[in-house]
Amino acid sequence: MKEITAAGLRSMFLKFFEKHGHAVIPSASIIPENDPTVLFTTAGMHPLVPYLLGAAHPAGKRLTDVQKCIRTGDIDEVGDASHLTFFEMLGNWSLGDYFKKEMIPWSWEFLTSPEYLGIPAERLAFSVFAGDENAPRDEESYQLWRSVGVPEERIFFLPKENNWWGLPSGLGPCGPDTEMFVITDKPPCGPDCSPACGCGRYLEIWNDVFMQYNGTAEGLQPLQHPNVDTGMGLERTLCVLTGKKSVYETELFSGVLARIGELTGKTYDPEAETARAFRIVADHMRTATFIIGDPRGVTPANVDQGYVLRRLIRRAVRFGMQLGAPDGFTAEVAQVIIDQYGDVYPELRENAAHIREQLVLEEQRFARTLRQGEREFEKILQSIQKYNLPRLIDSKRAFKLYDTYGFPIEMTVELAREHGLPVDVDGFAERFREHQLKSHAGAEQRFKGGLADTGEQTARLHTATHLLHAALRKVLGPDVAQKGSNITAERLRFDFSFGRKMTPEEIAEVQRLVNEAIAADAPVDCREMTVDEAKAEGAIGLFESKYGERVKVYTMGEFSKEICGGPHAARTGELGQFRIQKEESSSAGVRRIKAVIG
Ligand code: ALA
Repeated sequence: MKEITAAGLRSMFLKFFEKHGHAVIPSASIIPENDPTVLFTTAGMHPLVPYLLGAAHPAGKRLTDVQKCIRTGDIDEVGDASHLTFFEMLGNWSLGDYFKKEMIPWSWEFLTSPEYLGIPAERLAFSVFAGDENAPRDEESYQLWRSVGVPEERIFFLPKENNWWGLPSGLGPCGPDTEMFVITDKPPCGPDCSPACGCGRYLEIWNDVFMQYNGTAEGLQPLQHPNVDTGMGLERTLCVLTGKKSVYETELFSGVLARIGELTGKTYDPEAETARAFRIVADHMRTATFIIGDPRGVTPANVDQGYVLRRLIRRAVRFGMQLGAPDGFTAEVAQVIIDQYGDVYPELRENAAHIREQLVLEEQRFARTLRQGEREFEKILQSIQKYNLPRLIDSKRAFKLYDTYGFPIEMTVELAREHGLPVDVDGFAERFREHQLKSHAGAEQRFKGGLADTGEQTARLHTATHLLHAALRKVLGPDVAQKGSNITAERLRFDFSFGRKMTPEEIAEVQRLVNEAIAADAPVDCREMTVDEAKAEGAIGLFESKYGERVKVYTMGEFSKEICGGPHAARTGELGQFRIQKEESSSAGVRRIKAVIG
């Protein structure tokens, strides 16, 4: 197969789809806006849900992009050959425009044409949806692969667990997919060897999702305008095309692994026992750098995205310590990532100082925590001796060390081993699971209820969020900027940059201004314009577009003008009484307001 680099693959993909009439749009933020169902953008689809459900996208009906994604569900698997918590997804979309008969031949062209990936046709295999009681077998995709010349033995009909795609909640746009695999030199693992068996013979590189349905509480409903959503993971595809044994052996990781080597005085060797620690540091630092450096970036905290970030940094520090990394090494590793990705994601360069500072601060906090935890551990040992208790660290104590002192269980096990004591790790895991269920922290998926619902009450709370944002800037000054928003049908939650607690008078004034804007019953007006026009009109919001041509600007009377994707109430008067329930700290330099309406 041909030589290819990450930069080459990104631009080849975008150019191909541009040639087929697609607009190149910028990666959306890694932290979803107004979507309470997830902590991070897990696929290119997330930021586009409203458009997949029928709203008009300002850039048109054919889009292509490279989207920053985070999936931390498998964080404990990181360190093996394939798991990553951050990846880039190359994608293209049809928003109610073309469908299977265009997409499958394009996929074939991109995969096999010498002008593009040039993969020999006989090295490719495909899977299509086998059908079930809810949706029929995807005969059309099968026939389309046959018509470009794929022999039947290299097309596999697989069930829903393999060939269906949608959001984890099962709600929202979804449908059958067809997946594309490179066949490796590994012989078949048996007579039933297929892309579903995971033996390593078939490596997936691309997925075309045909979104024909909308998942609702009542079941699948056909979408009036079927969409196409395709996704090609950059790291994995690069790994497969260049014939590397793991994603960490691709050029995407060579710089960062080499730097970790310099800092620790060790050398990265994929076969050595230290490989796992090297990979964990490289992966987690890459993800942490992108989270802090995002336009909607967050800083380490004990809840939500900030908690995931904290966990990533602390885990990287722990494995860095194992390798013998010096204090402050996280900032040095991050710098390599900032330099490497700065051209594609300029936000990393812009936020470089902030990223480095936050990493070192968290390293220092973690060091303090570890010292406290060690002292607490000593106390436990002493009481075991003094009161002649059973010689073990029970789950309650192990959990307290974790929960109160932020002491990772692995550390407890290690220390206990030094003193010849076992730890009730199973009991700890049980407590940990209960705690996770209660706090919902650590997993991307939060409310089981699913998708960013676009219900009326949620839209009203979204409108209230714009009014709140404008009121905060009037009362606290124009430096106040949105840092996060999370809206359910019950309440809004708004994070904004501000250095101190608000006074009761300030809170009352903000509330009064919002209620005044509601009482004015202003129409909520939406117009499309270029980013420059929006800026010239004084709209606030995130100007994150690079190529993104046109944006929507929502205006609420004279009170608020903000770039946003919607949806909103029709008039401010619909909102009813607005009430701030809570003003609190979210993370360093960021405050959080929870409010309700009605
Ligand atoms: N959204 C699809 C995926 O993530 C393309 O695989």
